[in-house]
Amino acid sequence: MIQLSAAVLAWYFVAPAAHPVEWSALAGVLAVAASMLWKSRGVTAWMQGLPIPVALLAWRAGIPPWVFLAAFFATLAFGRNAWQARVPLYRSSREAAEVLAGALTPGARLLEAGAGDGRLALWLARLRPDVQITALENAWGSFCLARLRWWLMGRPGNVRLRPASFWSVDWGEYDAVYVFLSPAPMQRVWEKFQLQAKPGALLISNTFSIPGAEPTRRTPLSGRLQQSLLFWRIEHGTE
Ligand SMILES: C[S@@+](CC[C@H](N)C(=O)[O-])C[C@H]1O[C@@H](n2cnc3c(N)ncnc32)[C@H](O)[C@@H]1O
Repeated sequence: MIQLSAAVLAWYFVAPAAHPVEWSALAGVLAVAASMLWKSRGVTAWMQGLPIPVALLAWRAGIPPWVFLAAFFATLAFGRNAWQARVPLYRSSREAAEVLAGALTPGARLLEAGAGDGRLALWLARLRPDVQITALENAWGSFCLARLRWWLMGRPGNVRLRPASFWSVDWGEYDAVYVFLSPAPMQRVWEKFQLQAKPGALLISNTFSIPGAEPTRRTPLSGRLQQSLLFWRIEHGTE
């Protein structure tokens, strides 16, 4: 919407066909301004200034239009949740995987809610072959990549990858639920966990906290973005 509004508004002042460079520059400036009005800050806001000038450059360089369409579908395939659920794709660090591996009880059943490209699930499967991991991902590009990784790693039997939304499954059969999402869905995650998790089950979140719910344990991580693993047990649990 920001790009579309900026393009149309710039068109009001400059004719794109007659002055494409000026039009695209103005559209870029307007997109940054609109983004700031929408409360974006820093790099996120400045990046809104790029698409239209870059599209113009690409068009002038002779890049065919289908490339844009392909890029759009690739973005959707991997990033649909950035748009629909405000959860982009980024991946847990090796350190987070090791801390998580150390926190799970023998033979635990783990739900990874939002598996991304499956890297964490497969690391964990190696670190803890006794743990049964169910990894759910509903962005089909990421899911296909996770499936490919799983095949390439010899199809480990303790990892089940499913192309599904974690909201649509019952969390009651798991001993632990791991999430690395964003601040946006954390309240809903907490409500679902409290409603469905079995007694003593663990909720583990990489970095993102739950408003008003103090974690029972916090293990610091050394990453700039991945700062800690947070652990909660539901009330009728033991921790
Ligand atoms: C930040 S990534 C974390 C990936 C992986 N868990 C890790 O730690 O490396 C979050 C993932 O959750 C996925 N996701 C968001 N909402 C989802 C939903 N409702 N069901 C399944 N996956 C979802 C996103 O597509 C994204 O791949």
